Formats: sequence, structure tokens, C-alpha cells
Amino acid sequence: MHLSTLLPLLSFPLLPTAQNTTALPEPPAPPLTFLYTSYVHCRDALYRSPGPLGTRTAIPIIGGNFTGPRLSGTILPLGADWGLTDPRTGVFSADTRYNLRTDDGTDIFVRTSGPAQPGGGLQLRALFEVGVGELYWLNEVVAVGVLSNVDGGEEVEEGTFWLRIDVWHMTTENDHTKYANGSMEIA
Ligand SMILES: *[C@@H]1O[C@H](CO)[C@@H](O)[C@H](O)[C@H]1NC(C)=O
Ligand SMILES: *[C@@H]1O[C@H](CO)[C@@H](O)[C@H](O)[C@H]1NC(C)=O
Repeated sequence: MHLSTLLPLLSFPLLPTAQNTTALPEPPAPPLTFLYTSYVHCRDALYRSPGPLGTRTAIPIIGGNFTGPRLSGTILPLGADWGLTDPRTGVFSADTRYNLRTDDGTDIFVRTSGPAQPGGGLQLRALFEVGVGELYWLNEVVAVGVLSNVDGGEEVEEGTFWLRIDVWHMTTENDHTKYANGSMEIA
């Protein structure tokens, strides 16, 4: 190869690129759509044990409800938060699995995880599994939640407590939620 062809290539990495990088416009944040607010009934931790990844705590989930514009129902008394406390920072992160049942009988398996916040509460990532029906699009959403501690009122059973979790999902022009009109064929 002739030297004159090589030179532009060789000098390429030496070009200043900093200005170009800073000139990039900041992309707009994707919008979020409200999914539901849930009230989760929990029993006080049953288990707390040090392990290879930190202290693992098991908090049974014994019921509750969720209410939103496209899905509402109850939380089944079947699930727990097997949260982990980071031994290096002392920060607790939720690690839950539980089940929702909508008012019209659709079963949804939920997994959430995410760290406790310094001011109280937690930030969560949420994943949904749905086998059939009009809520099948929940399998494809990218969802986030905000958990806060709530006062369950006077009726709260001894040894239990309530949490509130507000959940949103990322929304794009052509996202899977459009299939909720039932047009998607599911084998
Ligand atoms: C959900 O549970 C909370 C806490 O017990 C209660 O205040 C609220 O009324 C319930 N919502 C529905 C729709 O049942
Ligand atoms: C249902 O949603 C699909 C996908 O967005 C769309 O192509 C179809 O026209 C919609 N059907 C009705 C009846 O709204």
C-alpha cells in the first residue's frame, strides 16, 4: 500500500474528538406509563442468615391488591422477598417472587429487585410473566417501581405490615402494549 493512502488512516486516532463528543445532543428520556399501585401485605421476616453474597432475609408475602388503568386484582398469599444486604455497603436490595391474579382471573408471576433508598423505601425493577390473554404484552414491558412503607391503619394484624409499590413501564411509539386489544394470536 502506498504511504499516501496509509497516512490519513494513521493520523485518524490522533484527531481531537472531545468537542464532537460534547456536542452530541442529550437524547430524550423514554416516557413512562403508569401500570398500577399495589398494596402488599407482608409478614415480618422469618429468616435472616449470612451467606456468600451477604445477609439473606426472607419476608413472606401474604396478600394484597393492585389497581391500575389496565389491570387490577389481588396478590396471592404465595411468595416472598428473599432480599440481600450487601456486605460492603450495608444496602438492602429486594429480590422477590410472587403472584398476582387479576379480577378476571389472569395469573401473573412477578419478580422484582432493587436497592433501598437512603430516605426510605426502595427502587425496583419488575419483570412479569403471563401465559394467556389480553395481558400477554406484560411479558415484554420494561418496568420500574417505587416502594414505600405505609401505615396499614388500625386493622393491621400483629407481626405483619403493608408496603405500597407504584409501577410504571417504559413506553415507545411501537411497543408491545398495543397488542392488548387482543389482536395478537397466541398459540
Ligand atoms: C388495597 O389494600 C389497601 C391496604 O389494605 C387498602 O387500603 C385498599 O383499600 C385496597 N384497595 C382495594 C382496591 O381493595
Ligand atoms: C389492535 O392492535 C393492532 C396492533 O397495534 C392493530 O394493528 C389493530 O388494528 C388493532 N385492532 C383494533 C380492533 O383496534
